[in-house]
Amino acid sequence: MNLKLKIWRQKDAKDAGRMVDYNISDVSPDMSFLEMLDVLNEDLNNKGEDPVAFDHDCREGICGMCSLHINGEPHGPDRGITTCQLHMRKFKDGDTIYIEPFRAKAFPVIKDLVVNRSAFDRIQQAGGFISVNTSGNTQDANAIPIQKHNADLAFDAATCIGCGACVASCKNASAMLFVSAKVSQFALLPQGRIEATERVLNMVKKMDEEGFGNCTNTGACEVECPKGISLENIARMNREYLFASLK
Ligand code: SF4
Ligand code: FES
Repeated sequence: MNLKLKIWRQKDAKDAGRMVDYNISDVSPDMSFLEMLDVLNEDLNNKGEDPVAFDHDCREGICGMCSLHINGEPHGPDRGITTCQLHMRKFKDGDTIYIEPFRAKAFPVIKDLVVNRSAFDRIQQAGGFISVNTSGNTQDANAIPIQKHNADLAFDAATCIGCGACVASCKNASAMLFVSAKVSQFALLPQGRIEATERVLNMVKKMDEEGFGNCTNTGACEVECPKGISLENIARMNREYLFASLK
């Protein structure tokens, strides 16, 4: 396949940034999207030009490092996958592909397609810890009865990889889906109930401080989330927040 790429180039956080055109040829449909960018970068390197900076690590949909807004969608046109799992067979010969960073005030651009998502780390840090008795009288976790339904919901919430696609897809740049997944994975388990009040209050406060927008129930986040995190988690977080505020 021969493709035309329009890629966001931005030298650093202060640079205004702009779209730059590149042509790439002989792209195999079996390549991953990031491998296609690797080929482009090799070519730029060989020509002595600055390669395009983009985030990645595991390249198997686990770590949450890869990002990219591809043709207007976080993680591109496929569903239930991260950018590293997107394959070039999703595109046609002659296509023009627009590649931009995840855009949100709380995710400032570092360079080109790399954004700073450390606001997510600070929200998780604000959530604190869970109390586990390690005094020698520790109860075997398997001996604590948990309803199967709740265990499954907690596990589903815990599959959030913190990629930020929910924020990038939201017209308000809201982080509610991410934060609600992190609140829910503990709120649904007895081990997480001990600090549940402080956790939800502190995480929501931090989320607001970091400059994320409010949720207006558009639902784009759920559609674009590579892990299928459900909007039900936002409803659960709102209930947790309400009860915590009344205590
Ligand atoms: S909720 Fe989904 S889209 Fe948002 S950070 Fe977690 S995995 Fe990514
Ligand atoms: S590089 Fe790890 S999820 Fe894409």
